[in-house]
Amino acid sequence: MEFSIKIGPAEKQRSACLVVGVFEARLLTPSAKALDKVSSGFLTQVLKRGDLEGRIGQTLVLHHVPGTLCERILLVGCGKERELDEAHYRKLLGKAASALKATGAAETIVYLAELDIKARDFRWKIRQAVEVADHALYEFDRLKSKKENTPTHLKKIIWGLTLANARAQAEQGLREGLAIAASVKLARDLGNLPANICTPSYLAEQAKSLGKRHKKLKVTVLEKADMERLGMGALLAVARGSREPAKLITLEYHGASKTHKPVALVGKGVTFDTGGISIKPADKMDEMKYDMSGAGSVLAALSACAELQLPINVVGIIPATENMPSGNAIKPGDIVTSLSGQTIEILNTDAEGRLILCDALTYSERYKPEVVIDIATLTGACVIALGRHASGLLSNHRPLADALQKASDDSGDRVWELPLWDDYQDQLKSNFADMSNVGGREAGTITAACFLWRFTKKFHWAHLDIAGTAWTGGDRKGSTGRPVPLLMQYLLNRIPKKAKAAA
Ligand code: BES
Ligand code: MN
Ligand code: ZN
Repeated sequence: MEFSIKIGPAEKQRSACLVVGVFEARLLTPSAKALDKVSSGFLTQVLKRGDLEGRIGQTLVLHHVPGTLCERILLVGCGKERELDEAHYRKLLGKAASALKATGAAETIVYLAELDIKARDFRWKIRQAVEVADHALYEFDRLKSKKENTPTHLKKIIWGLTLANARAQAEQGLREGLAIAASVKLARDLGNLPANICTPSYLAEQAKSLGKRHKKLKVTVLEKADMERLGMGALLAVARGSREPAKLITLEYHGASKTHKPVALVGKGVTFDTGGISIKPADKMDEMKYDMSGAGSVLAALSACAELQLPINVVGIIPATENMPSGNAIKPGDIVTSLSGQTIEILNTDAEGRLILCDALTYSERYKPEVVIDIATLTGACVIALGRHASGLLSNHRPLADALQKASDDSGDRVWELPLWDDYQDQLKSNFADMSNVGGREAGTITAACFLWRFTKKFHWAHLDIAGTAWTGGDRKGSTGRPVPLLMQYLLNRIPKKAKAAA
């Protein structure tokens, strides 16, 4: 999709479609009012007939409205004006985009960024609009031999603004929105690709091609022999059962001077999780191709950083492997030595994410990071606790947890914090090693984080459990691209105001 900005009043626009909002009950937004005026009250009459109340997300297409220069007008319900907030804004934009998709219009001018949302400027409104629209228009059909969905005619969305002094802010929001939307799409594509295509080697190739595209991005791939030399016993234990070679992918983005400590993003890259010898049930096992969504979000975030040339340093670390049963696979009861030197009794081979992450977290120390954030589809328990609305957040550093919570509020890509308390550590006791890799049924998300906590004592760290948020189930099942918007918001929020203007 092509996106751009145009300054000018709605009633003067010549276009295949104009999109304007209507509040409940039947109250016109400013641009809708302007169109109503030039059409001698046409919109008011239509609304009076009861075709649209203005409830959030309602849509109605009108053709050849007299007095206007456009072929269509799409009315979009904005809900009660007093209640309009960030979530409603995103919802109505998503509905508008879906309704536009169903029309024959190739180009449209959308007057929805004029809606007032408390404490949100045009930069925010345009950025969100681009992200939401692009998300709604996403299709993953590259593996279908015939494209079965009705073709979309829509090629271009123009955000219409009536205030000329909004331009600078809006342009900034557009630039950010485009980069974030493109990286969300990358993450979704990677999550949707099946495991016979999206292997650890494929992820490594994707990283390398990003590295070729961007001068400031340096990509390195460690092979099995390198990991053996380093002593990554936990990561290699998971990889044993698979014929696909494991990779440890690092992406270093240098946007600031070398003296600035980087943010490290560590993403779980299990390209398929069968459970290993502790094998999973067959039902929905196909969905375990998205067990590399953490890795996908790290690749995507680094790509967006490079695209936006952000004035910060960020390093991405991706342990990538399959988790398979085989004659060579790890068995329940096996004990391995992690890169940190701590020993682990593997009581359940399906708790593999923490095993590959613990070595990647220890490895991150060499970058002397300011903070480390790991992103992982780590526990089914998190889906039970928080559903698909919020990612689980656990952290050993209050300011970092607060900053992520703030990014969650700003981006709408929500997190919810769970306690990281020593009290839970007892559940990880092992009779034979320093720790077990499972903590029993109770508080599964917290004990998984407690496991990782033992490998993050030397730095500020937060853990995002995205098992529920990275994927939608049901008939529209597929990858969501979360938490890329959250990560990007967190990184944007770290940039001092002055530097932002220069960037
Ligand atoms: N990849 C899964 C977690 C998962 C489950 C993600 C469902 C998305 C949806 C992870 O590797 C796993 O299998 N975790 C186990 C841990 C248990 C054995 C302690 C789980 O959640 O059941
Ligand atoms: Mn598993
Ligand atoms: Zn897994």
